[in-house]
Amino acid sequence: MTDLKGRTALVTGSTSGIGRATAIALAARGAHVLVVGRDEQRARDAVTEIEGSGGSATFRLTSLVDLESARELVEWAIDAGNGHVDILINNAGVALMGPSNAATEADFDETFTVNVKVPFFLVASLAPAMAERGWGSIVNVSTMVASFGQAGMALYGASRAALELLTKAWAAEYGGRGVRVNAVAPGPTRTRMMEAIPDEMVNHLAALAPAARVAEPEELASAIVFLATDDASFVHGVTLAVDGGRVAT
Ligand SMILES: NC(=O)c1ccc[n+]([C@@H]2O[C@H](COP(=O)([O-])OP(=O)(O)OC[C@H]3O[C@@H](n4cnc5c(N)ncnc54)[C@H](OP(=O)(O)O)[C@@H]3O)[C@@H](O)[C@H]2O)c1
Repeated sequence: MTDLKGRTALVTGSTSGIGRATAIALAARGAHVLVVGRDEQRARDAVTEIEGSGGSATFRLTSLVDLESARELVEWAIDAGNGHVDILINNAGVALMGPSNAATEADFDETFTVNVKVPFFLVASLAPAMAERGWGSIVNVSTMVASFGQAGMALYGASRAALELLTKAWAAEYGGRGVRVNAVAPGPTRTRMMEAIPDEMVNHLAALAPAARVAEPEELASAIVFLATDDASFVHGVTLAVDGGRVAT
């Protein structure tokens, strides 16, 4: 198991769900974790849990809604990370659902800003310094619905499909200089985001995969941590499906 002592990990959307579980798992490996979200109580709870287990973490409340918020986050993260961010987990996301004819221009812009534009500029700002230091790792959190057409998820799926292509492009751009870039594509996972979807629909989605169940956030976190560490030292540019087998069948 790779030791992450001395590494700083920035995890967007780590006050809840998959990001929170990932922050806890990275801290357990020794990384100093930068927790990012919008809800102060959830942020404090995540940091308290990490510190209670002997880990190291600090948090910042940020709504990642535009280029400026991404730039401010980078500035804070470099400072909070003692001058370096070695691991970036682009996990925060928005999943607006419904028929395409019901989507507004604001829905379109919000989806592509949070899910594509913010990750794009976080990577553009942080990857060059990782490359200069000769080590870095980036994991983008996508979704299984970036790989097939799902009615009601056109905007969400399309935005994550863009992130998956960016994952390959960044692997090509930075991989030769020690920065690995990969993605994880979750299937239905028990988080707050999932609470917004009716149980019936969740169970129906889950039943379509061989595993026939909803995942726990920790099952996603272990895949993200695998890709983020040197355990995956020869893995560049992949999107790892962690979806109970849905896209394979
Ligand atoms: N759950 C699933 O079934 C599933 C399936 C496929 C993909 N995913 C993807 O997994 C990722 C994590 O989702 P989750 O299921 O763990 O959901 P979650 O429990 O609702 O967590 C979402 C996290 O993102 C943060 N966040 C959302 N929008 C943000 C913004 N604009 N600025 C800053 N922080 C923001 C939230 O912060 P606050 O709570 O502090 O507001 C929270 O920490 C998302 O990208 C999602 O699309 C989830």
